[in-house]
Formats: sequence, structure tokens, C-alpha cells
Amino acid sequence: MTEILTPNDQGLARAADHLRRGELVAFPTETVYGLGGDARDDRAVARIFEAKGRPSFNPLIVHVPDLAAARRFVTFTPMAERLAAAFWPGPLTLVLPMRADAGLSPLVSAGLPTVAIRVPAHPVAQALLRAFGGPVAAPSANPSGRVSPTRADHVMAGLSGRIAAVVDGGACAVGLESTIVGFDPVPALLRPGGLPAEVLEECLGAALAVPTVQAHRPNAPGQLDSHYAPGASVRLQASPSLPGEVWIGFGPQAEGAALNLSPTGDLVEAAANLFHYLREADRLAGPGGRIAVAPIPDHGLGRAINDRLRRAAAPR
Ligand code: TXA
Ligand code: MG
Repeated sequence: MTEILTPNDQGLARAADHLRRGELVAFPTETVYGLGGDARDDRAVARIFEAKGRPSFNPLIVHVPDLAAARRFVTFTPMAERLAAAFWPGPLTLVLPMRADAGLSPLVSAGLPTVAIRVPAHPVAQALLRAFGGPVAAPSANPSGRVSPTRADHVMAGLSGRIAAVVDGGACAVGLESTIVGFDPVPALLRPGGLPAEVLEECLGAALAVPTVQAHRPNAPGQLDSHYAPGASVRLQASPSLPGEVWIGFGPQAEGAALNLSPTGDLVEAAANLFHYLREADRLAGPGGRIAVAPIPDHGLGRAINDRLRRAAAPR
């Protein structure tokens, strides 16, 4: 059952409790309703992908209440400082280098070294972020491939029964997703959105770069290289492993695996462990080593896991 919460002290405290337990809560921002989960909790982030039925792990936006909170997770460039000072809180997302001590789940950034971060202006989003006290990963609160929700009943129509709660804050004012700006190193418009590019350019005193197709679509196949790719070679559908391979297993039958994505065969647990175990297997395999991965069922979150594994195994 998905509960509909009123954004008073009691409702917000309950929503924050859900987030603390790793549950998902949809909440209003000035752009669209977000599907929120604790950005530090691998399982909570895995559940976001599961609830949306997303067939791939594309990077999510991390929501924080203010600039000071953002500084705990990313490093700012002078240009980014200027945009944040002018437009936060508001419908602007900045993609910036992740701090080594950020403590975010690698699923949030899909293994990228950068994080998309935003300070929403909506008073209910602000109140929830402050009640929770941590970073909230939130894509739009709709099933994959459907239009973004701008009212609580839109969220319920798509996700009822799949999430713990929705905080009903009425209709979203902007109705368009946030504008996303990246810096590599010059400011570039990664996604047009609720804040017009012209307004940003006026603030910067310069035109925004138009990114290449690859930079613009972080989960497009051509962008594979910028996702974390193991140094070791990766062999898929491998059970059991061959001598000399570091075997990443799945399920109870993967006895003898160096690492097991989920001994019980739970796809949410497997997704939560995926990026950690790819790194760990890479470390165990050493330079020029070999990783083997057991078959993963190709349904539900398994589709996103297999998508990511195919990228890791792609020739490079
Ligand atoms: O208005 C919004 O931005 C809404 C509300 C809920 O805040 N959120 C939203 O999130 O639209 P989402 O997950 O649907 O959009 C995330 C997009 C990705 O598809 C990708 O284009 C970009 O943000 N993105 C995230 N992390 C990135 C990164 N590290 N590098 C480049 N692009 C990134
Ligand atoms: Mg979306």
C-alpha cells in the first residue's frame, strides 16, 4: 500500500522515516514529482530503478537543501559557484566532480566520476530534505517511458503499490524537468529544462557549449567508455568459472564464487552490489586479469543489471 501524506510536520516526519528505512517516497519539486530514495543507500537506489521499471542504470539527480549540503558531495568550479549562487534553490541541476568522500551509492551516478546535484525550491521538497537530513536521489516519479508527473494523483496512477508513500504538495509550478548544466571544463547545456538557457548564459556572460551526442546521453551505447569499465576482461553467462578467473556469482547455486551478487537470488540486492563487486573483482583479478559473471535472470532489475554487464564486457 502506498500512503498519501499531507506535508505537515507529522506527514513529513513519516516520509523522512520511510527514507531512513531505505523506502521510496515521491515528493513534489517545483519542476515535477520526484521518486526519492536515500542516495547513500545502495538498496534504496536499486529500488528506484526497480519501481520505475527502468531497463538500464542511468545516472540520477541528487537533491540537497542548500549549497552547503551540495559541497559535501561535489567540488565546485568558479562557473558552477556563480550559477548556484544565482539560481539555487531552483530548477537547475549541476553536473560536477564527485568528492572522494561523498559516500554516495555508485548506482546514483551509474559509476561515473561526476554527480548531478540540485537544490529544489519547492517548500515541501525543502522541508522533506531538512527533515530527512541526507541526500535524496530522485528521478521523475513515473514508470519508465511514461510522462513525468506534476500531481500526486499522477504519481499514484503510475506507482501505487510500488513505493511507500507520496507527499501530496499539489500541482508543480514549472511542469518541466530542471535544466542540466555540465562543466568539462566549459559550461555546457546537457538537458534543456525549466530554466531557460538564455538566462543562464546571461549570468555567465558566455554562451553555453553544445555538448557532443556522447556527453549529452550518458547512457547511450557510445558513452560506455566514460562509465566505469573494469580493467580486467569480463566474460558473461559464466557458470562455473574457469581457472584463473574471478567469478562473480548469483544465486544459491554459485558455490565457490569469490563474490556473490545475491546468494538468495534477489535482484534488488544484486543491483545494490553490482558496482561495488565489479570494482572488487577488478582489484582481485589484477592488471590484465579475467572476471567471469554468472547468468542473471533477464527480467525486472535483471534487465538493467545485464545491460550494465554487457557494457562492462564490451570489447575496448
Ligand atoms: O526536475 C528534475 O530534474 C527532476 C526532479 C525530480 O528533480 N528530476 C529528474 O531526474 O528529471 P532524472 O533522473 O529523470 O534525470 C536525470 C538526468 C539523466 O537522465 C542524465 O541526463 C542527467 O540527469 N545526469 C545525471 N547524472 C549525470 C552525470 N553524472 N553526467 C551527465 N548527466 C547526468
Ligand atoms: Mg525522467
